[in-house]
Amino acid sequence: MSHVPPPISESAALVARDGAALGDAEAPVLDVDRVTKTYPGEPPVKALREASLTIGPGELVGIVGPSGSGKTTLLQLMGTLDRPTSGRVRITGLDVATMADDDVAYLRATRIGFIFQQFFLAEHSTALDNVADGLLYAGIPVGQRRERALDALQLVGLADRPHARPTQLSGGQRQRVAIARALVGRPAIVLADEPTGNLDQATGQSILDLVGQLHQAGSTIVVITHDHAIAERMPRKIEILDGRIVADTRTASPDPS
Ligand SMILES: Nc1ncnc2c1ncn2[C@@H]1O[C@H](COP(=O)(O)OP(=O)(O)OP(=O)(O)O)[C@@H](O)[C@H]1O
Ligand SMILES: [Mg+2]
Repeated sequence: MSHVPPPISESAALVARDGAALGDAEAPVLDVDRVTKTYPGEPPVKALREASLTIGPGELVGIVGPSGSGKTTLLQLMGTLDRPTSGRVRITGLDVATMADDDVAYLRATRIGFIFQQFFLAEHSTALDNVADGLLYAGIPVGQRRERALDALQLVGLADRPHARPTQLSGGQRQRVAIARALVGRPAIVLADEPTGNLDQATGQSILDLVGQLHQAGSTIVVITHDHAIAERMPRKIEILDGRIVADTRTASPDPS
């Protein structure tokens, strides 16, 4: 497999660009306001301590910090997978704390895409169905789900392998399927937790190149990593240490790829 992903087609780029249109256009895509997370235990673990950050439409942000610094905890709160001990999380202007669980689940299904280090694909489903499942909760008929899934597979350079099962794909290809699944619902924001953590360097590089292309096409993406070299190449880098955000810098010449 070539490590250079094909360019994004115009129609595929639209899939990515549409995402920013969802929600309140005036509000930041994501607003984390003095969020604290304490896990119960003896003693309790203060995983996040008054962390605040705001992410606007179309941003590509790297969040970097050492193991145990609170990165995954932060991603879970940003992604509404967990609720903070204190502080507020707003997605496209909507305050998660004031919403019923069902509404939060719908918000998550329609506005947030997730990419994880372990891919989390259904082994017995095809690439196409894995991606189409990203639309399960969006109320779209199955035929349309498959059509859009094929568009998303094209976006990640896998349009020629829609019927392959994850076990028949390489690690990099599996992560491309997972990225297509994250994008297929045209989310307002994509959250990636160590997306290259299970990949060799060259394959990881091709995934980062793809992330750069998706950003160029208009997607809003947060990449969590322990690797400073990866975060360094993002247009904006947020550093987290011991549950606190200690730096937030934008580079003059953003070039993630
Ligand atoms: N469910 C939990 N219960 C108790 N403590 C937890 C839980 N999840 C995380 N922690 C603790 O919270 C702190 C932050 O963990 P987190 O997983 O957010 O770190 P991380 O930055 O993602 O680390 P890594 O780079 O190793 O993935 C750690 O001290 C961890 O042990
Ligand atoms: Mg983690």
